[in-house]
Amino acid sequence: MALKDSKSGTDIQLAAQLLQAGQLVGIPTETVYGLAANALDIKAVSKIFTAKNRPTFDPLIIHSASLEQAKEYVHDIPDKLVTLANTFMPGPLTLLIEKRNNIPDLVTSGLPRVALRIPSHPLVKALLEKIDFPLAAPSANPFGYISPTSAAHVLNQLSDQVAYVLDGGICQVGLESTIVGIENDEVTIYRKGGLAIEEIESIIGPVSIKPYSSSNPAAPGMLKSHYSPRKPLRLLNSNDFENCPVEKNKAYLSFQTPKNNGICKTLSLTGNMEEAAQNLFAFLRLLDEEDVEEIIAELLPEIGLGRAINDRLRRAAIEE
Ligand code: TXA
Ligand code: MG
Repeated sequence: MALKDSKSGTDIQLAAQLLQAGQLVGIPTETVYGLAANALDIKAVSKIFTAKNRPTFDPLIIHSASLEQAKEYVHDIPDKLVTLANTFMPGPLTLLIEKRNNIPDLVTSGLPRVALRIPSHPLVKALLEKIDFPLAAPSANPFGYISPTSAAHVLNQLSDQVAYVLDGGICQVGLESTIVGIENDEVTIYRKGGLAIEEIESIIGPVSIKPYSSSNPAAPGMLKSHYSPRKPLRLLNSNDFENCPVEKNKAYLSFQTPKNNGICKTLSLTGNMEEAAQNLFAFLRLLDEEDVEEIIAELLPEIGLGRAINDRLRRAAIEE
């Protein structure tokens, strides 16, 4: 325990030094915690894939302090994406932009575009302002498992793999960023996430949404089975969830109404989607640790962040 404790804290200087030296550092962002390395250092980036047991065909997001700083690493940003960047960055938005040659192919799995995020969390912002390289960072979980929303989640699973975790408390958004790019001149959502599609459409009009597929895993966030607890997860619509009897060997994840007399976590008693998103991954982890055979979760209404929450639940429920 002592070792684990000593590996986390708020020492930005130490985090910067470790990253400069090619080590892996857990970083807080407003979406989920990241497993960060110097994006320009191929050896450091390759450590990310090993630590997560992640296939190298699944590309990484780079994180910069500002769009200004990021221009060193990407070519011209399409107008519509500039509009989105001006409105929602820093924040839970990732843009796919043509990369410059200084971004190693390993970061993008050989794809011509790189995924770029400007996180708003003050600790990681301060870190990014201190260093003179972007950070490549996937979510800090073993490949396929639930994303971490606290420093403890990171240390529970990757303590041997990280040199340090910058502890920025609990992630406010709780869902990974929404990934957006241009395809056939259309603004396209590649991964639903912490920025609701309705918010994006209110600024630039209708967008298209890419259906996910495991036959095309090089496309963003599109691996079908993902975000999974170890226990089998079954999803029910609201009606069926309400009517299903409570069983002792099952755990329940409800949206708004608790299941009485059962092991149950409720995402938001007031039905608030932001609160539900913030709680989702932490509650799935807690239920995964219960001594039960199955987790049963209630699907949310398909609006706002409910769409991204349901997307994560559906992928978590897929068995391979
Ligand atoms: O909120 C987030 O986005 C978090 C925090 C740490 O920033 N990061 C995150 O990274 O969720 P990760 O690696 O778990 O998910 C990134 C997704 C992957 O599914 C990957 O396929 C896709 O982004 N992606 C990254 N670069 C891409 C590219 N150049 N082209 C297509 N897809 C890309
Ligand atoms: Mg991930």
